[in-house]
Formats: sequence, structure tokens, C-alpha cells
Amino acid sequence: MCGIVCYSGKNAAKDVILEGLERLEYRGYDSAGLSVIEKGKLFTAKRSGKLSNLKLALLDHPLEANIGIGHIRWATHGAPTDLNAHPHLSNDKNIALVHNGIIENFHELKEKLIKEGYHFTSSTDTEVIAVLLEKYYEGDLLEAVKKVRKILKGSYALGIIAQSEPDRLVCVRCESPLVMGLAGGDVLVASDIPSILKYTNKLIYLENGDLLDVKDGYQIYDIDDNKVDREIKEVSWSLEAASKEGFDHFMEKEIFEQPRAIEDCLRNKLVDGKIDLGDASFTKEELRNFNKVYIVACGTASYAGNIGKYAIEKFAQIPVVNELASEFRYNNHFIDEKTLLILVSQSGETADTLAALREGKRKKATTLVVTNVLASSIDREADKSVYCLAGPEIAVASTKAYTTQVMSLYILALDFALKLKKITEKEVEEILKEVSKLPGKIQEILDNTDPIKEFANEIKDASSVFYIGRGLDYYSVIEGALKLKEVSYIHSEALAAGELKHGTLALIEEGSPVIAVATQENIMDKTFSNIEEVRARGAKVFTICGENAEKLENVSYKSYKLPQTIDSLYPILAVIPEQLLAYYTSGAKGLDVDKPRNLAKSVTVE
Ligand code: M6R
Repeated sequence: MCGIVCYSGKNAAKDVILEGLERLEYRGYDSAGLSVIEKGKLFTAKRSGKLSNLKLALLDHPLEANIGIGHIRWATHGAPTDLNAHPHLSNDKNIALVHNGIIENFHELKEKLIKEGYHFTSSTDTEVIAVLLEKYYEGDLLEAVKKVRKILKGSYALGIIAQSEPDRLVCVRCESPLVMGLAGGDVLVASDIPSILKYTNKLIYLENGDLLDVKDGYQIYDIDDNKVDREIKEVSWSLEAASKEGFDHFMEKEIFEQPRAIEDCLRNKLVDGKIDLGDASFTKEELRNFNKVYIVACGTASYAGNIGKYAIEKFAQIPVVNELASEFRYNNHFIDEKTLLILVSQSGETADTLAALREGKRKKATTLVVTNVLASSIDREADKSVYCLAGPEIAVASTKAYTTQVMSLYILALDFALKLKKITEKEVEEILKEVSKLPGKIQEILDNTDPIKEFANEIKDASSVFYIGRGLDYYSVIEGALKLKEVSYIHSEALAAGELKHGTLALIEEGSPVIAVATQENIMDKTFSNIEEVRARGAKVFTICGENAEKLENVSYKSYKLPQTIDSLYPILAVIPEQLLAYYTSGAKGLDVDKPRNLAKSVTVE
């Protein structure tokens, strides 16, 4: 996620902004920039790479300015270059702005503006806003912003200044967060509280649709441009607590961010409710040319790949092999120019996945990556990229990256299926209708964590925990078991429920905790029998099931009902209680959940 810091007050804007941006560095970013108005002139500096590059560029500029906007960027549209860094300027260089979020209709707006004679220097979605502001500017920045925000679709938090109005700062909040700090007569506006805390703990949380005009004091307008007052709140957060937005750990924060992450993930894949993967899509002819599809990844990304395999096979009816990158790189016997190789990687830097990509390319496969990090090594080297847009993931245990990888793979599968005419537009429409309800359903789960906390307390001292499931549920339990072992250090194993009698049932004894996931209608009765099997051997079964599963609840020690969705989408819901169970179990054991022993966030060595 990008970060915004804006300032208008008595102090040196440059110092306040740089310090505010420093406080956001821990989340990762790829470029930084600021604009200030010094003696009536707009000054802008931006650099790719670390904030230190920007500071170096500013060494010769003392900048006597009291108003300005700053940004650290985490690329979503366009590579992390100086040009793509924020702030972005209008063509006449009068207006500068910083932006968090995604403008969904930027393609059409850009095309239109180009036809009208405007030009663009970056490949970002943001520059379109600066140019639109120029188009509608008639000497009053606030009025121009009021007009432009009615044209924009998507999510955005904006900080805007104009050389022609050197005492004015205008900010807008639409979906992306923005908070305002009041320090005497000074006003700070930032995407995140840590950037403000050094100066003040008096905050106003701008509401969705709010427009803030800072000039001789400040005025807030609501979504309908009516003047409104917003309550000033005093927070007592430490800097560390503020970085985690009040959550105890990054893993918890990232689990709870999933409704928003899924929404963002869909933003660049659907246009007016229809799938549009832009440069990442294949033509019907290209798809027909593939006679083999591999999905290759490591760890959690590979488990997302299991669901990708299911989705491509189910919807597009193409057989898929899902393989661990560490195995694939030495074992890729059938790769040729008719192979589509899909890599999945949150970081885009995992050594084995990168090596698999290079091996695939060497053998002339077409490559596509599903990644969360634009301009990462795998992103740069793959032929096509689908971005998860989950925002930076800091905890070692992957949570929101997993659900957005799964979501991205579903959309990819539906796109393939449509092009190959294996599914109708109507059917896709129905599925997407269910997809659009997922963020709300994830939120329902996040609002009901008590039963999961209780179970975490019960399993915290177990020496082993077993997970069982069939079909798609088996894929969900593989991920659940990894999450638990990774952060709680409890031996946990995912068992294909139908395989129990072939050996693994021997592991079950009196009191063995078993997590059963049972969401799939067609195999519900089978899973029911498997739960009975382990229960008969003394297992304590905690069942994660769909809404209509009374039968399962009756045979379970405890159960957790997921909100209703269609069978193929249940993995996105079923994993949430599993993530929470892992998180709470680690907490109950007093472990360092964000940095589990022996593990690193990005595995860049073999
Ligand atoms: O960055 P990547 O997605 O390529 O990372 C792959 C795995 O290392 C990663 O998913 C790992 O398994 C997670 N820590 C699991 O939570």
C-alpha cells in the first residue's frame, strides 16, 4: 500500500513530510516523492528506490515551504521508476497530487484526454487525475476537485496543491483511508496515523466521500459537497501500535484486511462487472495453442495453486499440473512452446519459483505470474502478470496474499473458460455475483472469532493437530495445517479424508484434535463418515462447515458455520477460520507470531 503525508502549517513542510514518510517505511515501498510550494513556486522531487534517494536529491534544496504533499509508492500501475513516482503534475505544471488507491476507469479517461490534446509522462493511473484537474480548473482548486471526483471510479485518497493557490491544500477520501491531525493551527493529513503522531494525537478520521479544504483553517465537505463537522478524537496509541492500526500483530491486521484486499484484487480484473485482464489476457487462439498448463509455486502460494488447478480444470476444462517450484525446476520433462507456465508468488522473488520461470522460458513455454509485487524479479521476467493487489504483507505467514492469489486464479480460470466457450456469459455473471459478496461474508467471519479463540486455547498444548477434508476442502486443510505449524510450532498434518483408512487413521487417538473442513455438497456424506471414523477413535473434531450442515454439527465436538456461498468459492471463506485458529493458537502460546522461528518472509535462496 502506498503512503500519503500532507502538511500545511508553520514548520518546514519538507521536514514534516519526510519524517512522516519515514514512519511508513517499515511496510515496504519502491519510490518516494514530494511537492511543496516555495515562495509561490511549485517544487517537486521524486526518486525510485529508498527514501534516502529522495533525501539525497533534496540535500541542495533547503526548501522554505510550509505547505506540501508527500508519498511513498508501492507500484500497482507502471514500474517503480522516477517518472511513475508521485507526486504527479498537470500538463501546465500548476497542480501536483499524491494518490493512494486505484482508478478503475483511468484507461478510458486517459484515451479521452489524449484525444483532447493532453499528454502523459507516466504509466500510472494517477496522472489522469492531475490532468483532469487541469481541465476543470478555473481558479478554484476545491471546485475543480468537486467536479473531478464525480468522474473518477475506484478507490482513492488524494492530497493536492496548486501553485496558483499557494496557501491551499485539498484532500479527498474515497474508500482509501485518510486521517487528519490537528497540531495547534497546523494541519497534517496522512494515510496512516504513525506519520502524524509525533506532532499531535488529536485526529479526525475522514469519512468515506469526505473532501477537506485547508486554507485559513479547514473545512470538511461530505460526499454531496455539504459542509460537515467531524469529531476530533484523541488517541493514546504508541507509534508501534499505530503501525499496526491498533491490531496486536501484523498477521492479525492482515487477516482482518482481507475484505478490502479481495475488493482491491477484483478492481483491476473487472470492468463494469465483466472480466478484463488487460495485457494479462490471452486470445482464444493463444489459449487453444496450449496443450499443457502448469502452476508452479512454493508454500502457501503453491496451495493457492491447488485451487487454481481446480478452477481451470472445472471452468475451462483444461488439465493442469500443480507442482512445487523446488521440484519442478529439476523435473520439468514436458515443457515446450505449447506449455503455459503459471507462477504464483506473493513476493515475486522466491528463488525456486524464479528458477522454475527461467527454466520454463528456456524451454520456450509461455509464462504468466500471479504476484503481489509489481516489478519484482518474477514480474519483470514473466511474459504476463496478474496482480493480486493485496497491499504489502509483512507477517511471515501469508494470509491476505493467499486469498487474493486464489481470487486472481479464479478470475483467470473464468477468463480462459469464456474465451474457450466452456462457460456462458450468464454463468460467469452468476459466479461473479457470488464473488462480489465474498468481502461481506469474510467480514461476517471476522466478526465471529470467539469460537475460534476458544478452540485455539484447547489445542495450544497438543503435540499434533490433524486436518481432514476432501476435494476442494482437502486443498483448504493443506493451507490450514501449514498456517498452524508455521506460527504455533505444533505438528499439524493435512490428511485427505478418504485416505484415512489407508494408513493415517493409525495416528488418531483419544483426544486428538482434528479440524475437518466440509463445505462441498457432493462429498458431504463422505466427509461425514470420515468425521465419524475419527470420532470413533476418540478425536475431538472441530468442523468448519457450510450453513446447511446440521448433520455434521451433530457429530462434531465443536463446529463453525461459514456464511453460505457456492461450492467452488468456499475455499476463500474456509481458510479464514483456519488463519485465525493459527493466529490465536500462536498467541495463546506466547510466540512471536509475525516472525516465526527459522523462517523468512521472502526465500531468495534455494
Ligand atoms: O513470496 P512467495 O509467495 O513466493 O512465497 C512462497 C512461500 O515462501 C510462502 O507462501 C510461505 O509458504 C509462507 N510463509 C506461508 O505462510
